[in-house]
Amino acid sequence: MLTDKRILLIVAGGIAAYKTPELVRLIAKAGGSTRVILTDAGAQFVTPMTLGSVSGDTVYDDLFSLTEESDMGHIQLSREADLVVVAPATADLMAKMATGLATDLASTTLLATDKPVMIAPAMNVRMWEHAATQQNLQTLSARGVHMVGPEEGDMACGEYGMGRMAEPAYILAAIQSFFQASNRLMGQRALVTSGPTHEAIDPVRYIANRSSGKQGHAIAAALAAMGAETTLVSGPTNLPDPAGVHMVHVQSARNMLDACESALPAHIAVCAAAVADWRPADEAASKMKKLPGEAPAPLSLSENPDILRTLGAAGNKRPGLLIGFAAETDSVVENAQKKRLSKGCDWILANDVSAGTGTFGGDENVIHLVDEHGVEDWPRLSKIAVAQKLANRIVDTLEASR
Ligand code: PMT
Repeated sequence: MLTDKRILLIVAGGIAAYKTPELVRLIAKAGGSTRVILTDAGAQFVTPMTLGSVSGDTVYDDLFSLTEESDMGHIQLSREADLVVVAPATADLMAKMATGLATDLASTTLLATDKPVMIAPAMNVRMWEHAATQQNLQTLSARGVHMVGPEEGDMACGEYGMGRMAEPAYILAAIQSFFQASNRLMGQRALVTSGPTHEAIDPVRYIANRSSGKQGHAIAAALAAMGAETTLVSGPTNLPDPAGVHMVHVQSARNMLDACESALPAHIAVCAAAVADWRPADEAASKMKKLPGEAPAPLSLSENPDILRTLGAAGNKRPGLLIGFAAETDSVVENAQKKRLSKGCDWILANDVSAGTGTFGGDENVIHLVDEHGVEDWPRLSKIAVAQKLANRIVDTLEASR
């Protein structure tokens, strides 16, 4: 139920806007109320009259309307809601949100709001897959913006793929679970590792890997959004720090281990970092020289500490629920099962990192969750959706064990 919950619905200009009166009706049926902001482009697909009739309220569409501003200014609009929902969230409006543009009532309200925001993206598949959109999505996710959909299917433009707006019933379910979930991890401490580590060869060179940090950062953001007091220990990435987390930036595996041990005790730990297994045995104090005619100096390696295994063997400081990842290129599930036992963790999220999968650095992931009961195969999901699904599973497990 959404009893007494106030939703500010921002309807942008996509064909899926025609579904929003149904969403308003479903919110009302669940006990909530909706106030609507309609963009000019949105009004090409659904009329203010329809949305006004189903919401029983004025539909706001003009930043410079004197009557609307004196009645209900954009600041007040943005502050009165319990949740701001953008549906459909077009590529254009997402880009404005990511860059902080305020060119109309919708974007100005989104910039002015201090309330949680949920977006239901809807656009053509190529627009969805475009690097600019994916980067905007990462930025929004890192700021704690919630997402529902998009779905895969036939599009109004005749193409097929990811980019259809989630159905109104599904958006309603996401709104309901947002209100149920937003404090379900309150009082829990979570530790997440993310990104690669850099193992110095000399002051300018290092050994690293292709991890972008997208998966680990999304998990930290999802746990923090559910109310967990979250520490994110990350190697070097190009990502912004997620909203609401305590961020610890590190370089090497040994730095990462120190930061993780300092973050204990924790109820939940998720090790998503691609920690380098080895480091140069001796770090040169000055830049190694390439001398004409001389063969390159051999690089001898030392083994790095295993952070996940160390947490698994931390005695009474062991996190109550310890989750690792397994990055595999063959026998993915079998190797992950062995890793779960050898590293002493409760769950392992196995992902195939073979060339061409895009798991390292990409925006999507296919997870096989291995626990003591067996294997759960998840469909291909965005890394943000993987994070939300994992966070929900964590909550369900903790609640069931109480
Ligand atoms: O960062 P992205 O570009 O989004 O990519 C995500 C990812 C592919 C990096 C992520 O989904 C993933 O698989 N992370 C784990 C990568 C890895 O190092 O896997 P592994 O199979 O080598 O290690 C198994 C587990 O032990 C992992 O939880 C790892 O964090 C941990 N480990 C490994 C070595 C080490 N010295 N210390 C560790 O804690």
